[in-house]
Amino acid sequence: MRSAKEIINEAGQWIEPSLEDVFPGDIREDITVKASLYSLLAGGKRIRPCLMYLFSRLLGLDLDEVIPFAKSLEMIHTYSLIHDDLPAMDNDDLRRGKPTCHKAFGEGIALLAGDNLLNRAYEILFAECLKGDQGKIRASQFIADKAGINGMIGGQSIDLDSEDKAIDIDLLYELQDKKTGALLCAACMVPCYLGGAPASVASEVMEYSMHLGLLFQIKDDILDVEADPALLGKSTGKDERDGKATFVTLLGLEEATSRMNEEYKGCLDNLEHLADEGFDTSDLRILTEFLAQREY
Ligand code: IPE
Ligand code: IPE
Ligand code: MG
Ligand code: MG
Ligand code: MG
Repeated sequence: MRSAKEIINEAGQWIEPSLEDVFPGDIREDITVKASLYSLLAGGKRIRPCLMYLFSRLLGLDLDEVIPFAKSLEMIHTYSLIHDDLPAMDNDDLRRGKPTCHKAFGEGIALLAGDNLLNRAYEILFAECLKGDQGKIRASQFIADKAGINGMIGGQSIDLDSEDKAIDIDLLYELQDKKTGALLCAACMVPCYLGGAPASVASEVMEYSMHLGLLFQIKDDILDVEADPALLGKSTGKDERDGKATFVTLLGLEEATSRMNEEYKGCLDNLEHLADEGFDTSDLRILTEFLAQREY
């Protein structure tokens, strides 16, 4: 059986070279480009590209055709982290094991670096749309939707608006589904659009991604309490201090863990259904287990 590390490394080798040349030529001397690349190439687990890679393989897609979508999504994710860390949002000093973008480059440039990654991601997606393939257009539209107010931005909005408030559990699920689940959903669903997967397959992938989004963010909330910051690459204990609404601050560590395990089981059920339809889900099972057990 393969290890999660092997799978993540394989996907990393697939996506990393394309991230290195998102801003080619002279433009690399620009300070905003330097700040963008500082954060983009700082490491990161590359889980979104990895999920896109695994679902593309599962559906038998040409992996070269998927790279622009995986690259754009990782750029949008990195922009969300740069802005999330700003003093006006979570005010964090450490990200991906390095000083946060604004600590290294100042707040103004960090703001621009986030904007720059987002804008460049859409330039790449528009170039794909111009090829005229309906699958590529639908995949691009889906990424934009999940990055916006119906997805990540919407979740971040609820997150900030919920600070120091007692919110109910339904709103917490909506917050987490949107701020983290949405981009993970895009990672899993883009291959379905690109490959024109049948509705029965796409709906299993969609359900898997919803469970995974919750699993991932509940684990993030747990790690904020339990992890070793050196290993995690970001500081801990901030959610409680900042009055954040999380599964741990609302329900406690034990209940949060039990809800995360429910989502893990949900993920495995959907993978089982895909396996019943003849798809090889073995690597996805290994990655999902890693995400439930991760320490960083
Ligand atoms: C962190 O995401 C922010 C959340 C959405 C929870 P990751 O844990 O994927 O961060 P990187 O990309 O590995 O740095
Ligand atoms: C942020 O959630 C999710 C994003 C959309 C960036 P968190 O604020 O919990 O992420 P970390 O813990 O700072 O990585
Ligand atoms: Mg945040
Ligand atoms: Mg944060
Ligand atoms: Mg967090």
